[in-house]
Amino acid sequence: MSKIVVGNLKMSLTKHQVEDYVSIINKEKFENVDLILCPSFIHILMFNSKNYSVGAQNVFYEQLGPYTGEISAMQLKEIGVNYVIIGHSERRTIFNETNSIINKKINACLDNNIKVILCIGENKEQKDSNETSNVLKKQIEEALYGIKSSNLQNIIIAYEPVYSIGTGNALTKDEIKSNILYIKSIINNNFNSDCKVIYGGSVNKENANDIIDVCDGIMVGKMSNDAKEFIKLLSIVNM
Ligand code: 13P
Repeated sequence: MSKIVVGNLKMSLTKHQVEDYVSIINKEKFENVDLILCPSFIHILMFNSKNYSVGAQNVFYEQLGPYTGEISAMQLKEIGVNYVIIGHSERRTIFNETNSIINKKINACLDNNIKVILCIGENKEQKDSNETSNVLKKQIEEALYGIKSSNLQNIIIAYEPVYSIGTGNALTKDEIKSNILYIKSIINNNFNSDCKVIYGGSVNKENANDIIDVCDGIMVGKMSNDAKEFIKLLSIVNM
């Protein structure tokens, strides 16, 4: 079964770096990987190979109108975007995105036939006070409020514990396994349906093999920024 790999390029590359990145990555094809590359909005059209899907890192929930600086799901779909990352912890913390805003963004994407990569995850304080289960349940139930079960096939949940993002400290295989199973059980209980669940947070060449063993794929930040290094990681997942 193919594994999902999301490369979240965040705001990390300049135009010239993206030109190099694309020229390297476009030469590769991974039979057992569903690769989704998520560059900055302004670089999306530079990603032009059929070997991967292209995702955006954010979206606004209105369709068209006086919303200075925003980009809608309809506009993204028009230029060939097939996925949008919604609810990344950087957006929740820096831009105050709530579960209710996230819910509106998910609906806007699904209405425009764009698939959603919904990010959830507890922070360190919540983990230390044994609130992980409650936090994950609330994030899922509020983000997916009113979503039809039939739409779960258009949603990937990315479990990204906040304290593991960008730190070099991924969770252990056992921790990932139990939290992924918990997330899948909430989806099953609420929607009577399955959903792909992937892990993100300091994934690298050393830990990728263990991690993909216990989930449907990985979401990669830092290690996806260097095309050559990312290809090595993709080759490990592809095996
Ligand atoms: P890192 O891989 O840099 O820890 O980032 C993870 C992430 O935020 C992916 O969305």
